[in-house]
Amino acid sequence: MSFRESFVSLVQPSPSTTRSAAAVAQATVRDDVRAIAAYASHVCTDGIKLDAMECPEGLPEALRAEIAHAVSRVALNRYPDSAPATLVAQLREAFAIPAQADLLFGNGSDELIHLIVQATCEPGDVVLSPSPSFVYFDMAARFNHARFVGVSLATDLSLDLDAMLEAIAAHQPKVIFLAMPNNPTGGLWPEQSVRAILKAAPGLVVIDEAYQAFTDVTWMPEVLTHPNLLVLRTLSKIGLAGLRFGYLTGDPVWMKELNKVRPPYNIDAVTLAALSVVLSHKAVLDEQAARLRDARAPLALALASLPGTTVFESAGNFLLVRFAIGGDTVFQALSARKIFVRNFSGVHPLLANCLRISIGSTEENTVLLAALNDILSP
Ligand SMILES: Cc1ncc(COP(=O)(O)O)c(C=O)c1O
Repeated sequence: MSFRESFVSLVQPSPSTTRSAAAVAQATVRDDVRAIAAYASHVCTDGIKLDAMECPEGLPEALRAEIAHAVSRVALNRYPDSAPATLVAQLREAFAIPAQADLLFGNGSDELIHLIVQATCEPGDVVLSPSPSFVYFDMAARFNHARFVGVSLATDLSLDLDAMLEAIAAHQPKVIFLAMPNNPTGGLWPEQSVRAILKAAPGLVVIDEAYQAFTDVTWMPEVLTHPNLLVLRTLSKIGLAGLRFGYLTGDPVWMKELNKVRPPYNIDAVTLAALSVVLSHKAVLDEQAARLRDARAPLALALASLPGTTVFESAGNFLLVRFAIGGDTVFQALSARKIFVRNFSGVHPLLANCLRISIGSTEENTVLLAALNDILSP
């Protein structure tokens, strides 16, 4: 081959590059992955966002300035420290984590849910949770080739302990996730039921306390007294959803194993620096959470007094509401008024005609109630 011929053969596409990306992806990506849609985050630039249990308030200006200063000093040319000792100490103090329990950090608690399943489940092993509950328990199981078993709640959305114990005996789950308070229903599972589940479980029980800031109930003090209990938390619901930080606590034996599947440097240096500053002003987060918690009962009462509504008891910063005129109808009418809530109508039979509404600021809650009054009044 002449020099010219070999040059032409180099620059001309080989047969393999003429195949379309769609064809190769079709043949390569897992069938179950191709069958689903990616998680769509809803960015709202105009309107009232009550669909993701975020804190309605931003951080105070002085605190933002302090964060900006700390972040400006971060060595962005260096990989971050995976678990800086000062930050671990701050977290222990801020969230009453027992001294002997270890911590594992996650890029949001979603990542930790993923890592728990990854480290524990062989293909086909069972991950179990009451249902309906947080959708990522199911997704993380499936993405990691585990089998998800959802145990239906009772029709009043309370935990069906007998059904849970039966399912545990039948499926021998490697991991049981208990979200307390439960998303999207808002309920808490009775203490004795949780004890029975901890006792019956052959593997891990992860109590996901994403909404713990809005209730007095926590299993954190007992995290070391059960050999199979881990407590999972996120800072997303107490004002830091943009930071992407969650933590898992439990016996050091568990943390040592789970840490092996954590991607290196999963928490970036900017997050670590910002978090350390925020935790030195933890009262700000507590005050924000207390305001939402105080607003919950009056909002629930006001919603319940509207025509054709059923409001479920919630221990979180959100309320699940059933609308007799139809969840889709109310969802569309609210969206048309630029009030964005989460529609669970078609998601699970027990959630028929239900919308999940985050508790907003005083003004947002007032606008929401006025809009619903308008939509629901005959
Ligand atoms: C029960 C529960 N756990 C975990 C998460 C994930 O939180 P993040 O990934 O923001 O930490 C959520 C988010 O909605 C949740 O409802």
